[in-house]
Formats: sequence, C-alpha cells, structure tokens
Amino acid sequence: MTDKIKVGIWGLGRAGLNMHAAEIAIYPEQFELHSGIDIDPTRNQSLTDTYQVPTYTDEDAFLNDPEVELISIATRSPDHVAHCERALAAGKYVFLEKPLGLNYTDGQKLLALCQQYPGKLYPRQNRRFEAPFNHIQEIIASGILGEVYEIKLCRHSFQRRSDWQTIIECGGGQLNNWGPHIIDHALQFLDYKVSELWSDLKKVAALGNAEDHIKIVLKGESGRVVDLEISGGAALPQNEYTLFGSRGALTCQGDNIHLKYIDPNQVFQKTEAHAGTPSLTGGVSNAYADLEQIKWVEEDIKVAPSTPTEIHSIWSALYQSIREGIPFPVSMEQAVAVLKVTDEVKKGTAFTGA
Ligand SMILES: NC(=O)c1ccc[n+]([C@@H]2O[C@H](COP(=O)([O-])OP(=O)(O)OC[C@H]3O[C@@H](n4cnc5c(N)ncnc54)[C@H](O)[C@@H]3O)[C@@H](O)[C@H]2O)c1
Repeated sequence: MTDKIKVGIWGLGRAGLNMHAAEIAIYPEQFELHSGIDIDPTRNQSLTDTYQVPTYTDEDAFLNDPEVELISIATRSPDHVAHCERALAAGKYVFLEKPLGLNYTDGQKLLALCQQYPGKLYPRQNRRFEAPFNHIQEIIASGILGEVYEIKLCRHSFQRRSDWQTIIECGGGQLNNWGPHIIDHALQFLDYKVSELWSDLKKVAALGNAEDHIKIVLKGESGRVVDLEISGGAALPQNEYTLFGSRGALTCQGDNIHLKYIDPNQVFQKTEAHAGTPSLTGGVSNAYADLEQIKWVEEDIKVAPSTPTEIHSIWSALYQSIREGIPFPVSMEQAVAVLKVTDEVKKGTAFTGA
C-alpha cells in the first residue's frame, strides 16, 4: 500500500462534490480520490466527468471496496450516524460531516462507536481551521486586549432558501447548518466551561418550516459571554467577530481585523473613584473621569495567523492523525459537546416549526 489515503465519498452534492472532492485535489501527496456514490445518477456522472474516477450504485459494493481506506460522508444530515456506523463496520476510517448527528443522543452513539472502533472516526469540523478564528485566538492570548469579557460571533445573510436544509423533517435549520461551526467556536472561546445559556430561534426569510435565525448567548464559568447569531434573515450583515476586552476591542470581517487597544506600555497611576467628585458643595474637583490620557493604538491588519490555515487544512490534520499518530485537533468529545448545546438550545425555546 502506498502512503496515500484512498478516499471514497458518500454523497456527491454541494459538500461531497464541491468541497470534499475539490479539497482532496489540494493534497495529492496525502490523498487520492478513489470513488464516490450518490443516489442521483447525475451527481455520480459529475464526479466521473470532473475527476475521472468511478462511482458506485450499490452501497455495499462501495463500502467493501478493499482499495478504499477512508469514507468521507457528505450525505444529508439525518443519515450521518447510520452511514458512519456502516462505514466503520466495513473497516474504514470515517470522516464525518457536520452536523455529526441531530441531537446529543446521536452524539453519545458516536462516542460509543469511537470506543468500538478506536482511532477510526474523525469529525469534519472544518471551520475550526478558519484563519480568522485562529488569528483572533492568538490576539486574545497576546494580552493586548486585556481580559476579553465578551465575544460576539455573527454569520449573517438574507436568503429565501427553499432546499432540504430549511425543512425540520429533513434535519434542516440553522442549528444543524451553521450551528455546528459557530457553536464549536463559542465552546473553544469558553474552554467548554459553560454556566448559563439563553437562546431564541426564528424563521425569517427561508421558505421551509425550520429556523433560519438563531441567537444563543452563552456565559462561561470565567464570566466571559459569547453572543452568537447565525441568520439567513439579516439584510445588513454585521462583523463576524466583535471582541471587548478590559484594554481594547477588535472587529473582524472577512480578512480584515480592526484593533483599538491601550498602548501596552501605558501603566495607569492608581486613582480611585470618589463619592465627593464632583463636589456637591462647589469644591475643587469637577472631574468626572480619570484625567490621565489614554494612549490608544488603532490599527487595521490582515488576517494572518502565525501558522497559516484554511478550512481545507483539516485534510492535512486528518492525514497526520491517520498516518503519523498526531492527535486530531478536534476531539470527538469536543464535537459531541456541540450537539449537547444544540439540545439545550432546542429545550430553551418554544420554536417547534413555522
Ligand atoms: N462542513 C461544511 O463546510 C459543509 C458545507 C456544506 C454542507 N455540509 C454538510 O454536508 C451534508 C450535505 O450537504 P449538501 O449541502 O452537500 O447537501 P446536498 O443535498 O447538496 O448533497 C447531499 C447528497 O447526498 C446524496 N444522497 C442522499 N442520500 C444518499 C444515500 N443514501 N447514498 C448516496 N447519496 C445520497 C444526495 O443525492 C445529494 O447529492 C450536510 O449534512 C451538510 O450539513 C457541510
């Protein structure tokens, strides 16, 4: 066997064909696209036409092809757990699309499968590898913003979507669509220690019956708040990231980061608030604020984390885990924690479909 990992893609839609197959082509030393399968013959044909690889019509034949080492699952969300179980049972490594399942019970099943098939199952939390997310974590760690006490995460658009991703019975809705990406970011920012959660789900512009606007506010044990908004009904998109810290703030949209922070060399003199300021009797000081001038630094920088990363970098991490034993950066426990939040959000809202 060569060192390359031969991949079969299960489900050749937007994700399977446009992302999985296209991304595999970026890593020709590590991966080889071997074959694919879709129930729609035109999708099978597209894979063959674009990548000159065969496709299957029989699921068992696809799963039992001895040449295939890894099955990359990109079928519809409600089928993920069942398809994952079958691919693992066929002896394959599995790269499983988000949402890994539809609820925390599915997550627990997947954790049990990890016990049964150790080292075989990898969650496709590809947005963990987004450059802005990684760069912003470095900025927080640098300390220039001081204590970061609030983080707003937004993914906004306005779309009259009408596909299965808008229908509850098909596993649609923003919680299952963008939710796994941004909830994962939120949990990372809170170090998985969440003490409070508030949420609201709405249907605004999409044509199905599932929510297309979600708001989740999470409070971490540290006191940090993450305010998360994913919307297909927001006509004026807001910054993807807004951070407030005790010494500054940051916004990020696309690959532009705007920073405003107190000069790290500025050490304030010890001044205390005083109940007699300003004086009630016409006394000496009328100052409402500390008169020491704040030395602000304000700059625009391009997103560029110290280790360059893009969402397709997840394939590189996958290869390193399978071939070199380097721990995968997204553990299954972390990925399943996202499903736990999803369940809590559903409990905390009266939304049952429009
Ligand atoms: N990680 C990401 O960035 C990302 C991006 C897009 C979609 N996704 C996820 O990928 C999954 C697919 O989404 P999509 O947008 O590609 O949907 P899609 O409808 O475009 O593609 C799904 C494909 O699966 C096929 N299919 C369904 N059942 C099948 C079966 N039993 N056997 C073989 N093929 C089958 C369909 O015919 C279709 O071609 C969803 O779970 C979605 O959440 C992830």
